[in-house]
Amino acid sequence: MLLNPTPIVFFGGKGGVGKTTLANATAFALAAAGRETLLVSTDPAHNLGHVWGTELADAPTPVRPHLSLMELDPARTTEEHLARVRRSMEDLMPRHLRGEVHKHIELARQSPGTHEAALLERMAQVLGEQANYAHIVFDTAPSGHTARLMALPEIMAAYTDGLLARREKADKFGAALRGLSGPDPVEERNRKIRATLLQRRRRFELLRNELSNPQRTTFYLVATAERLPVLESVEFHGQLSASGVHVGGIFLNRRVPEGADAFLSGRRAAEEEAIALLRERLPGLAMWNVPWLPHDAGSPEAIAEIAAYL
Ligand SMILES: Nc1ncnc2c1ncn2[C@@H]1O[C@H](COP(=O)(O)OP(=O)(O)OP(=O)(O)O)[C@@H](O)[C@H]1O
Ligand SMILES: [Mg+2]
Repeated sequence: MLLNPTPIVFFGGKGGVGKTTLANATAFALAAAGRETLLVSTDPAHNLGHVWGTELADAPTPVRPHLSLMELDPARTTEEHLARVRRSMEDLMPRHLRGEVHKHIELARQSPGTHEAALLERMAQVLGEQANYAHIVFDTAPSGHTARLMALPEIMAAYTDGLLARREKADKFGAALRGLSGPDPVEERNRKIRATLLQRRRRFELLRNELSNPQRTTFYLVATAERLPVLESVEFHGQLSASGVHVGGIFLNRRVPEGADAFLSGRRAAEEEAIALLRERLPGLAMWNVPWLPHDAGSPEAIAEIAAYL
């Protein structure tokens, strides 16, 4: 195996380029080398189960020696996240505001960002709970969605920092107004709010530290050797680097095999042009060529075949 991946590995790229196939092949190769591996799909449109011909759930299912798979359930993840937020809000708000809490949660369920925050929290949980695996490989949703997700821990940390600073000011002001020292119910509630915010802050910071530590996390791009996926990869590379995520290289999937007839050599030449563009825009980035299989790639046998190119 050419790759010597970090404990946490991500595969990302444009829709349909082969993220799931290469995440599978990597997990397969790691497991074949005897390393305990967990492959996690974060894409709401799961298809890991289709490849392995088995029903998967939001908990690890072993499929072969040293290899388990799980598919994060986005609906359950969001509901659990909202239930947690509701519990802490109810703890913190006076009783007569329960109706307001309910309204807020209903709004949050529909609002943009909620699913991403929930997914991120679930990923942090998986990393915490499944620490006994040597490798956790994430198969992600198409680029746009994942780029936002990778930037989110930073944004969430800054957001909670802002809330904490505002609380601090309000607390000081309130204490001065009341002219009180020592325990009082308002002070007690404020202390709880601060503790809750700090806990979230720590969780996001932990995730951010994991994602931005090149010893811990590597992000592999996947593209086909065509102009548009190449340009999208260059942009995605920039967004990931800006979020502090280490990009380990790019897989050029579905390469037309060499030595075919005129039509295929034409396709192959077009691929070479796109790769030249990639080399020019991202010089020095590691690249792997994965040939276009003459048969279907959606089975464990085909995944084993692709694993031989990693
Ligand atoms: N090297 C290959 N040779 C032949 N078929 C391939 C190869 N790589 C991927 N495929 C096939 O191409 C299709 C898309 O691949 P895959 O599902 O891995 O892409 P994806 O990037 O995960 O897609 P999505 O964005 O929908 O999640 C699948 O049917 C897969 O089996
Ligand atoms: Mg996929």
